[in-house]
Amino acid sequence: MSSRLRFGVWSPVHGPRAAWQDPEEPFNASWEHNRDIVLAAEALGYDSTLVALHTVNPYVADKDQLEAWTASAALAALTSRIEIITAIKPYLYHPVVLAKMALQIENISRGRFGFNLVNAWNRAEFEKAGIPFGEHDARYAYGREWIEVVERLIRGERVSHQGENFHISDYQLTPKSPVRDRPRIYLGGESEPARALAVDFADTFFLNGQPLEDVQAFISDIRRRPRKGEPISFGLAAFVIARETEREAQENYRHLAALAEKDAGMRAEVASRTDRNVVMVRNFAKSARIGSNGGTAAGLVGSYDQVAERIWAFHKAGIDLFMLQFQPLHTELARFAHELFPRLGREAPAPGAVQAQRAEARPALHSINP
Ligand SMILES: Cc1cc2nc3c(=O)[nH]c(=O)nc-3n(C[C@H](O)[C@H](O)[C@H](O)COP(=O)(O)O)c2cc1C
Repeated sequence: MSSRLRFGVWSPVHGPRAAWQDPEEPFNASWEHNRDIVLAAEALGYDSTLVALHTVNPYVADKDQLEAWTASAALAALTSRIEIITAIKPYLYHPVVLAKMALQIENISRGRFGFNLVNAWNRAEFEKAGIPFGEHDARYAYGREWIEVVERLIRGERVSHQGENFHISDYQLTPKSPVRDRPRIYLGGESEPARALAVDFADTFFLNGQPLEDVQAFISDIRRRPRKGEPISFGLAAFVIARETEREAQENYRHLAALAEKDAGMRAEVASRTDRNVVMVRNFAKSARIGSNGGTAAGLVGSYDQVAERIWAFHKAGIDLFMLQFQPLHTELARFAHELFPRLGREAPAPGAVQAQRAEARPALHSINP
């Protein structure tokens, strides 16, 4: 076991995580909904939010999709404590531009910003824009050169780089972070090139939701590898269904799974434009699950006590940060904080914490969104 347990929530950037035809969770990927979720998470005591990056909705292309980096800058301005982690796919941004944006959000948030380097899977997102979608390992090779440049720029170093993809002469960005060496670097992926890249560059390795034994094997493989600097830490994506009793949780799982069945056509269409070499996607075929990025494959479905026990077991295996999904999001986000936080050695939120935060924030939010 390493450092403190941390909890985060996936921002609803492209709608519900488990099922799209749920009367309790109508589709909503608006800025206002994302903002309200992140403000509620902060008021409830969550530590982080993860803002995924997709330029078009990856499930249904004509549905709304939140723009990750501009929204993250706004979230940084509206919050005061929560960490904001924003995904980045290197093909979409030149490293100098991205490093500048990352430092800006680091400054707005005064040291609460991190980015999550991901390798992409939705072929259409790139090809329809005329951006070549290299094959799996070529994308990682490009990402390696890209992060080499970005990592130095976000430290405020003066950078000259002549590589295969980038030619940068005497470039330095200012201001740098006001409080630390640089923003935090996360990496999400599972394949061999993802592992090698994370060991060389990431502070935290983000795993997709998967059973405890698989997480243990993954972590011991990473820890065996030589690495410079601080040991790498680990985060896990997971969809949670926690109830007073295991029976109630399983009933809710079956309810959401039945709703998710209605999305079967959409999922088949998504599969048709997904890169088959993405290890994440191959692993998904191993077991039934709901939620994205592994979702309930991490097994956080059960009574409050069972879910707490499983979280402790993952923490013992090396997971420090749990990036959680729920449905319906507002209700379950609050339930987890009230019921699970005290079982996991942290304070429950004060009753009415979210309402108090809303009342306090209303004048500012009203002027932004009349
Ligand atoms: C925690 C986490 C977050 C992710 N976020 C995104 C994202 O925002 N956008 C995206 O296109 N892919 C995202 N991915 C998926 C990665 O792009 C995908 O896993 C990638 O292709 C890595 O491939 P690999 O599993 O073969 O290494 C995420 C993956 C993880 C584990």
